[in-house]
Amino acid sequence: MAVALIVAAGRGERLGSAMPKALVPVAGRPMLEWSVAALREVAAVTQIVVALPEGLLDAAPAGVVAVCGGPTRSESVRAALRAAAAADEIVVVHDAARALVTPALFSEAITELERSGVDAVVAAAPVTDTIKQVRESPAMRVSATLDRSRLWAVQTPQVFRRAALERALAAPAQLLAAATDDAWLVEQAGGSVALFAASAENFKITTGLDLQLAELLLGRRERG
Ligand code: CTP
Ligand code: MG
Repeated sequence: MAVALIVAAGRGERLGSAMPKALVPVAGRPMLEWSVAALREVAAVTQIVVALPEGLLDAAPAGVVAVCGGPTRSESVRAALRAAAAADEIVVVHDAARALVTPALFSEAITELERSGVDAVVAAAPVTDTIKQVRESPAMRVSATLDRSRLWAVQTPQVFRRAALERALAAPAQLLAAATDDAWLVEQAGGSVALFAASAENFKITTGLDLQLAELLLGRRERG
């Protein structure tokens, strides 16, 4: 059985909306509620904990445990994990900003962790652009073209063995602040991480363009 943590305590600066990003309406509901609704369909998930911005705990959907998030994403994950029931050995971490996630993707992530011997499994989509690395000086001078066949853009859900995630989140504040991804903290702590292929449709809503695309796709899902 698993506990699910949704991090929703960011400000959404790049989206530039007046309210925190996770509460911005998308296709008729606050962004956060799409991920909560998907998780409710997953039989293995026994509890949902949501990290919200300070003062906005009332915005949590009924039936979830709401906690106050931290100043960085990793600290929000840590706050949510602290509030999670200790009985569950598997921890699912998900960004509220990935509102297009499906119950099937959560289930697949949990099954992958159970099947594999690793500490964490991470949803990821193959990179479709060619990625070039540049030098700092002279600025923008290309130093390498990376082998695209081995590059993956990582997403959430990221699913962990609880002990490995607790160990990773015990890292110093500086390392936590540098992490954009919890699996990286597990890597830093010497843990093993594997990817599994997910759809690019599970994109993160970061900019206004992403929000428009999410509105279109979720509106279509809603209409069946
Ligand atoms: N998040 C969080 N606590 C923070 C920062 C981020 O819970 N202190 C969450 C966001 O709510 C989001 C997820 O982490 O669901 C991914 O972060 P991101 O897409 O960067 O969202 P924001 O930080 O809100 O956006 P921005 O960086 O543009 O301000
Ligand atoms: Mg952010």
